[in-house]
Amino acid sequence: MTHSDPMVVDFPTRKPGVSFPPPDYGGYREHEGLVLSRLSNGARAWLVTRHEDVRAVLTDPRISSNPSHKGFPNVGTVGVPTQEQIPGWFVGLDSPEHDRFRKALIPEFTVRRIRGLRPAIERTVDERLDAMLAAGNSADLVADYALPVPSLVISTLLGVPPSDRDFFESRTRTLVSLRASTDAQRETAVKELLRYIKRLVGIKQKWPGDDLISRLLAAGSIAPHELSGVLMLLLIAGHETTANNIALGVVTLLANPEWIGDDRAVEETLRFHSVADIVSLRVAVEDVEIAGQLIKAGDGIVPLIAAANHDTSAFECPHMFDPARSARHHVAFGYGIHQCLGQNLVRVEMEIAYRKLFERIPDIRLATPDEGLSIKYDGVLYGLEQLPVRW
Ligand code: HEM
Repeated sequence: MTHSDPMVVDFPTRKPGVSFPPPDYGGYREHEGLVLSRLSNGARAWLVTRHEDVRAVLTDPRISSNPSHKGFPNVGTVGVPTQEQIPGWFVGLDSPEHDRFRKALIPEFTVRRIRGLRPAIERTVDERLDAMLAAGNSADLVADYALPVPSLVISTLLGVPPSDRDFFESRTRTLVSLRASTDAQRETAVKELLRYIKRLVGIKQKWPGDDLISRLLAAGSIAPHELSGVLMLLLIAGHETTANNIALGVVTLLANPEWIGDDRAVEETLRFHSVADIVSLRVAVEDVEIAGQLIKAGDGIVPLIAAANHDTSAFECPHMFDPARSARHHVAFGYGIHQCLGQNLVRVEMEIAYRKLFERIPDIRLATPDEGLSIKYDGVLYGLEQLPVRW
C-alpha cells in the first residue's frame, strides 16, 4: 500500500535563536508515510524522520548520494560539489566508485591509529587552553577553542608542518564563518587551501614522511589529482562538525554539571545535538518504497538526522540529555556506506576537549544566559555563532 496524498510542508529551515530540534519534527514522524517538503529553489523533496526509515534510506542501493543526478535536493547555502568540480570528493559517489576511496582511508581512522594521535591532540588542546588562560578570565569558546582544536588536529593528521598551521587554521576558519566572511572571501580561502594542499601533496611525493598523505601516495589506489579532493573533504567534513559538537556539548554540560567528567557524555552529545541534521542528502535512482510511500526515480530525499535521533521509538525520552542511556545506535554519523569515516577521531577529540577544559578551568561558566546564545544554522550544520564564557 502506498500513500498517494502526502502532507506537504515548507522545508524546515531554522532561524538563528530558534530552539532545536524543531518541534515540527515530532509531527512529521507521527504522520503516516513521509512528508513532502518545498525547497527554497521551488523543487520538492521527501523528508524522512523516523529512525528506522532513515536507516532504510541510507542503506538502499536504489538511493544515490551523487549530486549530479537530476532531482538531487539542493538545500542550505552551500552547494554539494560534484566529481567534475572536485575529483576525489567521494562522499558524493555511490558504490562501487566510492568503495576504492573508503578502502584506502579506513586504515587511517581505526581505533588503534587514532589512539596514536592522542598525545598530539592533548598537546593541541593544552596549547589552546594555555592561550585562553594567558589572555585573561573570559573567552569566546567557539573562536578560541571549539574551532581551532579540530582544525589543528586535522592539520596534524594531514602532516601539515607546524610552521604552516596558522595559515591553515585561518583559512579553514574563514571557510566556516558564514556570518564573519563574505562569499568572495570563502571562495578565496577554498582556492588557497586547495593550492596549499596540492603543494603539500607534491612535497610528500618527493619527501615522504610518516603521515596520511605519504601513506596514501605509497598505496597508489588514489591518484594524486584525486588526493587533493580527498584531503579537502577530510578537512571540511571534520572541522565545523566537531567544533559545533564541542561548543554545544559544553553548554549542555554546564546545564547538567552532574555529567561533567563522565566520558559517556560524548556519545549522548552527538545524539542529542545531531549537528549534521541535513548532511546526508540523497536522490532515488529507481522507484523505491519507504514507509509505505512510493518515491519515484528522480525524487530528492532528505533524511533528517536530528529527527531520527529524537524518535521515541528508538530512544526513551529523547529530549532528555541522559549520558547513561545506550545511545550507540544513533545516526549522528549517518548510516550505511557513507557513515562518518572520522567518528573514532571525533570521539577522542571530544573526550579530550571536554575533560581538559573542565579540569583546567573548573569554574568556567557562561557569560550570557543560555537563551541569549546565538544559534548558527546555515542550512547544513547546526551550532553556535559564539559562546562567551568567563572564569
Ligand atoms: C561522513 C557527521 C566529523 C570525515 C559523515 C556523515 C555524517 C557525518 C552524518 C554522512 C554523510 C552522508 O551520509 O552523506 C559527522 C559529525 C562529525 C564528523 C557529526 C563531528 C562531530 C568528521 C571528522 C572527519 C570526518 C573529524 C575526518 C577528519 C568524514 C568523511 C565522510 C563523513 C570523509 C564521508 C564518508 C564516506 O562517504 O564514505 N560525517 N562527521 N567527519 N565524515 Fe564525518
